[in-house]
Amino acid sequence: MGRSSKDKRDIYYRLAKEEGWRARSAFKLLQLDHEFNLFPGVTRAVDLCAAPGSWSQVLSRKLRGREEEQGERVKIVAVDLQAMAPLPGVTQIQGDITKVSTAQEIIRHFEGQPADLVVCDGAPDVTGLHDVDEYIQAQLLLAVSALFFSIHPLVCGVRLTAIFRGKDVTLLYSQLKIFFTGVTCAKPRSSRNSSIEAFVVCQNYSPPEGYVPNMSNPLLDHSYDVDFNQLEGPNRVIVPFLACGDLSAFDSDRTYPLQLDAGKQYRYTPPTQPPIRPPYEQACHLRKNNLLSREDAPSSRPSQCGDEAQPQAESV
Ligand SMILES: C[S@@+](CC[C@H](N)C(=O)[O-])C[C@H]1O[C@@H](n2cnc3c(N)ncnc32)[C@H](O)[C@@H]1O
Repeated sequence: MGRSSKDKRDIYYRLAKEEGWRARSAFKLLQLDHEFNLFPGVTRAVDLCAAPGSWSQVLSRKLRGREEEQGERVKIVAVDLQAMAPLPGVTQIQGDITKVSTAQEIIRHFEGQPADLVVCDGAPDVTGLHDVDEYIQAQLLLAVSALFFSIHPLVCGVRLTAIFRGKDVTLLYSQLKIFFTGVTCAKPRSSRNSSIEAFVVCQNYSPPEGYVPNMSNPLLDHSYDVDFNQLEGPNRVIVPFLACGDLSAFDSDRTYPLQLDAGKQYRYTPPTQPPIRPPYEQACHLRKNNLLSREDAPSSRPSQCGDEAQPQAESV
């Protein structure tokens, strides 16, 4: 009963089984290719977070079908934490994409040749709490970025990554725009509207002049003890920005001490423009003069109009 009702509900789930795809996600890549024309000329591709393998299936069917006309052997590398059933023409690496060793294994496989396409449909197990899911997804994405940029001498084409489109997504776009001239957010029809999932398609890889890729990227293997001051040229600015985002202003969710600068005493500054005849003015007046009715006597209720709680009201 459960199975047939899911079949009826989700057209892509049903179609995936009918067409022999391992997961309904296959349609997301097919539709993204339809929109962005991802595959022409691609002979070397990397599929990050690949299990159970429907994207690798798409790559295998689309790219290997063109092998003869392109006259070059197609190489596809699929990476996932989990084991995956074999696929024709796909080399599998069972590993963690956040590890330097995984990046090195991919590089070895391509034997110094640049990859044309990197796709990533990585997703941690979702909790259903959007803020938490977005945060965990962003961490995975940072790892993908780290891996991508650490292998980037090998990558010359398109990068496609699953993202959760939350409030911090513009930071991600800014980070990606450093390296690609084309950064587009896309939501294929097969991605459920109820999900904050989206995909970012990065085209025309063109790193800034002077940027030196290296494998000691501070995002990989959680070695956050990298001394940023050792970085030179554009790396001095770009690497911390990729690692941490824009840290140039105060964090609005943090509480700071009143005395911000050592040696500069804190002085209270009244509001620039106090409210004019606020609705609570009369209540504060009554309360201050003990004119409130008994039920609302100050001793029986928490203070809301006290001097400390309402400096603005006091100054009116
Ligand atoms: C949505 S599934 C990918 C589906 C796949 N694109 C397909 O079409 O079959 C997400 C995958 O991300 C993998 N994953 C999550 N974190 C990972 C990590 N750190 N390293 C490698 N794979 C990871 C999970 O094991 C899971 O198989």
